[in-house]
Amino acid sequence: MLINGDCFEALQDLADSSIEAVVTDPPYGLGACTPAQVAECLQAWSSGKTWKPKGSGFMGKAWDAWVPPPELWREVLRVLKPGGARSCVCRVKNSGPYGHELEACRV
Ligand SMILES: C[S@@+](CC[C@H](N)C(=O)[O-])C[C@H]1O[C@@H](n2cnc3c(N)ncnc32)[C@H](O)[C@@H]1O
Repeated sequence: MLINGDCFEALQDLADSSIEAVVTDPPYGLGACTPAQVAECLQAWSSGKTWKPKGSGFMGKAWDAWVPPPELWREVLRVLKPGGARSCVCRVKNSGPYGHELEACRV
């Protein structure tokens, strides 16, 4: 099955524990987030709050302003079968925020 759509919407239509593996190359967050904004974001995510980046990312794309939030990874964890695998491309500079998101979701 191939679904072409917004992953936040498409994932909602998938049943719990129904997917063997998630392989993804999500946005790298190439926007101009300052260290203070990154700290603000991580603090918000740690407290279970949402955080919206300001501005845009690579080539002015709004979807690239920042990395996907923990809500996405919670959905990924929900749809993965027990023992399922997730392979995620990210740039080294963002491995901190990506690791933090996974921690926030207990992945
Ligand atoms: C780092 S790029 C991956 C590029 C891809 N590996 C390629 O070679 O074309 C991130 C991709 O995520 C897509 N994207 C951003 N937000 C999305 C969303 N909510 N749902 C689905 N795809 C999204 C963007 O359109 C972009 O193609």
